[in-house]
Amino acid sequence: MLQGKITQYSEEINAFFTTNANELEQFRIRFLGAKGIIKDIFEEFKSVSPEAKRVLGKVLNQFKQLAEDKYQELKDQSAVIEVAKDNGMDLTLSGEGFEIGSRHPLALVRREIIEIFNKLGFVVEEGPEIEDDWHNFSALNFPEEHPARDMQDTFFIKKGGENGDIALRTHTSSVQVRMMESGKPPFRAIMPGRVYRNEAISARAHCFFHQVEGLYVDENVSFADLKQTLFYFVQELYGEGTKVRFRPSYFPFTEPSAEMDISCTICKGAGCQMCKYSGYVEILGCGMVDPNVLENCGIDSKKYSGFAFGMGIERIANLKFEIKDLRLFSENDTRFLKQYKSALF
Ligand code: PHE
Repeated sequence: MLQGKITQYSEEINAFFTTNANELEQFRIRFLGAKGIIKDIFEEFKSVSPEAKRVLGKVLNQFKQLAEDKYQELKDQSAVIEVAKDNGMDLTLSGEGFEIGSRHPLALVRREIIEIFNKLGFVVEEGPEIEDDWHNFSALNFPEEHPARDMQDTFFIKKGGENGDIALRTHTSSVQVRMMESGKPPFRAIMPGRVYRNEAISARAHCFFHQVEGLYVDENVSFADLKQTLFYFVQELYGEGTKVRFRPSYFPFTEPSAEMDISCTICKGAGCQMCKYSGYVEILGCGMVDPNVLENCGIDSKKYSGFAFGMGIERIANLKFEIKDLRLFSENDTRFLKQYKSALF
């Protein structure tokens, strides 16, 4: 019983705080005064059994010490406050809080994508945002004057040069070329990064956005590997049971090429505005690396094969957070940004 009382009073003492001299005096009288709680408890202690005394004695002394220390601490503090007051400062005013930042939603999604592919053994590769024609187009099998180049309206910076015109990269496939040129297969990497396209800025289009592309090159890599990898990725990112479907498509650097749809993350396939009532939404382009691309990068296309894929991070974030207006991502409005707290904060 005595033990219970001591525990309860200890909690009260620990939680006690005041900067007011009267309140502090009340505290002293209540606990340490001639008719105070500690006095009472010591009285009560006299009548407990000798065994209990052995255990409780120490606890009791610690309790008394706790009350005395608290009183001394607050008294010292009051003295400091008084001195400050004499000098025109009020130390009892609460401080100005400051806001800690939060992660940008695109950074959160990028990190999640990287973590999933890391588990499958994909490393992260990066490359320059200012690229030459060779790495952004020619090595990737975009023929000169071929309409395929129009698929990606490009910001050109400079004409001519050893590797052709200089431009802001239109996709991070350029990093795949750099990686293959400078190493030996097998390659298994993802390339996150910012890319640029000459589009008028609106809710649905922007002149820059972010991609994660991926590349896997080794002996005997098949379309089945591509499907399984992307299927795993989608289950991890949007949850088990998310359906995928592949539609034939065209990219100059992959053959065959496909676009991958997933069952709508918002309505789960029932039909809604997000999926335009089709139940499916497109999330990425993919395909088997065209043998020409492998050869352009000095890789024997008879021995090696590979798959590649590319997705827009904004699109993935949109499907996760339902952010409908692309401009929000780059306006840096803190009212928007602070809604996205990560597990880190
Ligand atoms: N580079 C393509 C794009 O930017 C995406 C892609 C990458 C498609 C790899 C297929 C294979 O749209």
